[in-house]
Amino acid sequence: MLHPLLENAEQLLLNATEQCSSITTLDALENFRIQFLGRKGHLITLSETFNALPTEEKKIVGSRFQEIKKALENLHANKKKSLESIKPENKNHIDFSEIEAQKNHPGKLHAYTQVIERIENIFIPMGYTKFEGPEVEDEFHNFDALNVPTNHPARDMHDTLWVNNTKQLLRTHTSSVQIRALEEHGIPIAGFAPGRVFRHEAVDATHDIMFMQCEGIFIDKGINLSNLLGTAKHFLSSFFETKDLDIRIRPGFFPFVEPGLEIDMRCVFCKTGCSVCKKTTWIEVFPCGMIHPNVLKACNIDPEIYSGFAFGFGLSRIVMLYHGIDDIRHLSTGKIGFLKQF
Ligand code: FA5
Repeated sequence: MLHPLLENAEQLLLNATEQCSSITTLDALENFRIQFLGRKGHLITLSETFNALPTEEKKIVGSRFQEIKKALENLHANKKKSLESIKPENKNHIDFSEIEAQKNHPGKLHAYTQVIERIENIFIPMGYTKFEGPEVEDEFHNFDALNVPTNHPARDMHDTLWVNNTKQLLRTHTSSVQIRALEEHGIPIAGFAPGRVFRHEAVDATHDIMFMQCEGIFIDKGINLSNLLGTAKHFLSSFFETKDLDIRIRPGFFPFVEPGLEIDMRCVFCKTGCSVCKKTTWIEVFPCGMIHPNVLKACNIDPEIYSGFAFGFGLSRIVMLYHGIDDIRHLSTGKIGFLKQF
């Protein structure tokens, strides 16, 4: 029968051999060494038992016990040699100090959202309310109520995208929100409505099929052209942060206003003409006018008592001017490289 000490020692060697075979890193091997060969390890415990044996028994088990001790030490030494011989790139060991820390890319507001916030900060203190309307509209709100009846040539000015041959369309301008806001809130009213609009147009650096506009409407008793011009000047000088705003006013045709105006602003990028102002030093920024009596009537408002103005500027154009963006298409690509500049 095998001596109990040797029985334990043989079992220890078996366990150690099995464990050692699955070790792949020097760190794991060090744990193995501590567990089996360390100062408080299994081998020391067995050695202490061996030392306490009577001399007669020591003579019987001594030689095999020494072999097992040596085998355990060899197990560790051989594994260490083989792990150390593995080339650095093959080692299952990562030196974190050499890895570049991952950069943090915190989220940002889209250039559109930032500009809409600037617009809100100008109109809301003036007592305006922000309105919204549907992007899929009907003909009444997009055209009829705005004094653009069926077959009126003005409908051709907007290349309308129709929804599956129904009477529904993708709104061609935010002016439809004027009507929605009047239906819902009545008069007096002062509101603005930024939003997406859609036109079936040839796309280039300044024209897209989906772009943004911002509508504005003010109706009360006694509102006149000077109120409109004052509002336009206040908005443009606040938005572009300029004290000596230079504007010019031209007639403009929109069926829903009379008179209709185009307000141009002196180019913010140059003094003598550049590519943004097409060498004219003027930038077209603020289409507007006094609301046509037919529009007021369509909303059951008496044009003999009430009057008002409306405007509907290209929000995409304002964003491009504000941020110096040379191509409108960048604004809807969603490319991180472009968006993170703002
Ligand atoms: C209108 O859409 C009128 N609803 C504006 C209006 C409202 C006038 C209220 C009077 C009173 P217009 O089609 O000109 O007007 O468009 C207004 C602005 O939208 C233009 O000045 C331009 O800046 C912008 N815009 C028009 N088409 C495009 C396009 N395809 N891509 C980008 N911006 C455009």
